[in-house]
Amino acid sequence: MRELDATCYHAARGFLDHLLGELPDRERLDGELVTVSGPPRSAYWTRNVWLKPGLIDFESVGDAARILRGMQRNWAVLPSRLHRRSALIAERLPPLPWKPKPFPFNVPDVPMGAFTLLDEHRMLASASCSSPFPNGEFEFEEDHEGPPSRAYRKLWEALLLARVLPREGELCLDAGAAPGGWTWALARLGAEVLAVDRADLEPRIAALPNVKTLRRDAFGLLPSDLGKVDWIFSDVICYPPALFKWVELWLESGLASRFVCTIKMQGSSFDKETTDRFASIPGSRVVHLWHNRHELTWIKTE
Ligand SMILES: C[S@@+](CC[C@H](N)C(=O)[O-])C[C@H]1O[C@@H](n2cnc3c(N)ncnc32)[C@H](O)[C@@H]1O
Repeated sequence: MRELDATCYHAARGFLDHLLGELPDRERLDGELVTVSGPPRSAYWTRNVWLKPGLIDFESVGDAARILRGMQRNWAVLPSRLHRRSALIAERLPPLPWKPKPFPFNVPDVPMGAFTLLDEHRMLASASCSSPFPNGEFEFEEDHEGPPSRAYRKLWEALLLARVLPREGELCLDAGAAPGGWTWALARLGAEVLAVDRADLEPRIAALPNVKTLRRDAFGLLPSDLGKVDWIFSDVICYPPALFKWVELWLESGLASRFVCTIKMQGSSFDKETTDRFASIPGSRVVHLWHNRHELTWIKTE
């Protein structure tokens, strides 16, 4: 493989435009894969980043698979052109772990590579990627009866990335909790949940023994009203600056240390300025989760 002094960014599903806005100086565009020269840099709207890309020349489908297998076990194909040939190479590689996963599970620490064909005899590939999942993609074993919405999946994913779970008895403030997907997930972990929303939670979630509900504007709840909380969660639909202002109050108070908050973008816009402000908070990061839509997730665990 001939290594490139570049990084490849695989756009979050449906948000290539936002990613292109973040990386205006691209060198290549292969389907949803944006290649930019130099080391990895901040870009929020990605599902996976190829950290060590290079070019591989090969003779045949079998030759391509043999070269990749010789480098490591796991390779995800990103079909950007020559779809049939890409699939034939992928078929000759070891199977990938696509089976839906229970929550929680141990995030794999074996390398997951990715490749895409540039022409019939040349591919762009990276043995090292930011995501341990093929093309950043994975599914949970879903619970179709317990939670009242599917929003719990993004909370589960955020907690996996955080590598720490709310523990039994810890106090979690869940802002924008209705109909109760996140509250359901937190209560199942044994946490004490204060679920706040302008709307009602689904009654069977509100009735869980470790759930208390408050029907009101969550952003009017100040640290001095509640005192110490272990975790703050927010999935409130609001302008990002309104969320930031409220989070700042909690950070300044020192009464909450861990946060998982969805930064919801309005319409088709991307509020980069506020997102950068979230990302610059020490001990935190902003990511686009596989289960996020037109939104980013801010996670602070330190
Ligand atoms: C995307 S939904 C939350 C879904 C929830 N996390 C779940 O898992 O079921 C957003 C919620 O934010 C609530 N909301 C919007 N503005 C609010 C505010 N200022 N205070 C409290 N809740 C608010 C809405 O009523 C809505 O229920």
